[in-house]
Amino acid sequence: MDSKIKTLQDKVQQAKLGGGEKRIEAQHNKKKLTARERIEYLMDEGSFEEIGILVTHRTTDFGMDKQVIYGDGVVTGYGTVNGRLVYVYAQDFTVFGGSLSETHAEKICKIMDMAVKMGAPIIGLNDSGGARIQEGVRSLGGYADIFYRNVQASGVIPQISAIMGPCAGGAVYSPAMTDFTMMVEDTSYMFVTGPNVVKTVTNEEVTSEELGGASTHSTKSGVAHVTSSNDIECLEDVKKLLSYLPQNNTETTRNLEYRLTDEVRASLSDIVPDNPNKPYDMHEVISGIIDEDSFFEIHKDYAENIIVGFARIGGRSIGIVANQPMFLAGVLDVNSSKKAARFTRFCDCFNIPLLVLVDVPGFLPGTDQEWNGIIVHGAKLLYALSEATVPRVTVITRKAYGGAYDVMNSKHIGADMNFAWPTAEIAVMGAKGASEIIFRKEIKEADNPEAKLAEKEAEYADKFANPYRAAQRGFIDEVILPKNTRRKLIKAFSMLENKVVERPYRKHGNIPL
Ligand code: HXC
Repeated sequence: MDSKIKTLQDKVQQAKLGGGEKRIEAQHNKKKLTARERIEYLMDEGSFEEIGILVTHRTTDFGMDKQVIYGDGVVTGYGTVNGRLVYVYAQDFTVFGGSLSETHAEKICKIMDMAVKMGAPIIGLNDSGGARIQEGVRSLGGYADIFYRNVQASGVIPQISAIMGPCAGGAVYSPAMTDFTMMVEDTSYMFVTGPNVVKTVTNEEVTSEELGGASTHSTKSGVAHVTSSNDIECLEDVKKLLSYLPQNNTETTRNLEYRLTDEVRASLSDIVPDNPNKPYDMHEVISGIIDEDSFFEIHKDYAENIIVGFARIGGRSIGIVANQPMFLAGVLDVNSSKKAARFTRFCDCFNIPLLVLVDVPGFLPGTDQEWNGIIVHGAKLLYALSEATVPRVTVITRKAYGGAYDVMNSKHIGADMNFAWPTAEIAVMGAKGASEIIFRKEIKEADNPEAKLAEKEAEYADKFANPYRAAQRGFIDEVILPKNTRRKLIKAFSMLENKVVERPYRKHGNIPL
């Protein structure tokens, strides 16, 4: 018996060493934690239970039979984060570059299946060179098995990917199909093919960081939803993100206890400038409305003309979509539409109510936008909001012009409560542009065309640059003072808590992808 226990202890010890102590040392020098350290940091103390520690690969080609490492480059199991069950896998770059073999894939699939059955989030800590080259099609098949499960789990349980080292080839497609991709700055990369292949095929010289670093994916491609400066911060961000989410699509988020007190926020009254063309920071509106310091922004540095993120209001977890007048005057364009549509759909999958803050002059005009498909991408946001059945509340702070008025959670596309501040301007377009079109003849024939334009502009603004026509028609439920917004929203979301929407049967809709 003693010798059998000793054998087991040796194997477990070997598994825990992964690629060996020297390499773990090297990882530390690059400020990367090891796979096991990452899990330890993520989970509640002592809660992690490992599954499959003694699994080994089955390859004999290329001398692989002489390189058998227990665990096969991935640590898998379950535990709790802030007391709630989660499943986790962490790839170990010290074992064959964290590459994915047939058995490595089987371990991940096993816990994905368990996560779906048990209705708990799955978190992948990715650090992998992609398909294990020595295994050929068996590793490709392993990836496909994971991808298939990502899709089956989509909208059922939250799936979060942290990218904590170089991830290449197949290693980037599973994260791309999960709900959130978080990247560590300077030590993580994501690319389908690395700089060497890029040089061979296209003759472009590019560094790993330029091609697929956290800065690239958080600003240019939008692949990364959140970036963090090191492993620890990234794991903290994963925990924070989880705190806003339910365990699965049949649950709602847990409300923190909250008692309505004095909810008046005078600071909200001074944010929108008198001059309608002057920008202001919508973040100030958000922080004036929500529970203190509760905003967790997603896609912070990408398509900054729209803001999306999670927050709490009266203890309730909500998703916020908000135009940002500080960037491109808050217009809707290709990237902002895609960003907001994706976020809206996530919230709708997981029963997270939506607050939409509107100050939008319209869609961005121009050949660049038209040729890049603003029609179809703008339609994504229109579609996503129209199909969302979660409680949906809108506040128009200033401009709501043209098609963008319809798109940004108008009453017409199913919003439940629509508020407007007295500064709201709800019209087909701005007063100047509108006057130039509908009074063209009158202005041209006037003795002083400039004065005539100004007169007509003032006339149009007087009629439409306000929320009252919309309120008369019931498209706006109430015009509210900014300082009362928080109280109104807490009460509206509470009233909408048990919203039920029945839809006719369909296999699935056909969102304009
Ligand atoms: C087997 C691999 C590996 C792989 C890395 N290693 N990638 N072993 N299969 N895919 C091994 C290396 O041989 C090396 O072993 C160790 O991991 C560390 O790798 P380095 O290259 O020394 O590390 P680094 O310089 O940090 O570069 C990391 C890297 C690079 C950028 C990830 O290793 C790389 O480019 N790997 C190949 C990436 C790739 O093209 N994968 C695509 C596979 S095809 P030793 O023993 O020397 O330390 C694919 C298709 C799936 O994934 C399709 C799904 C849609």
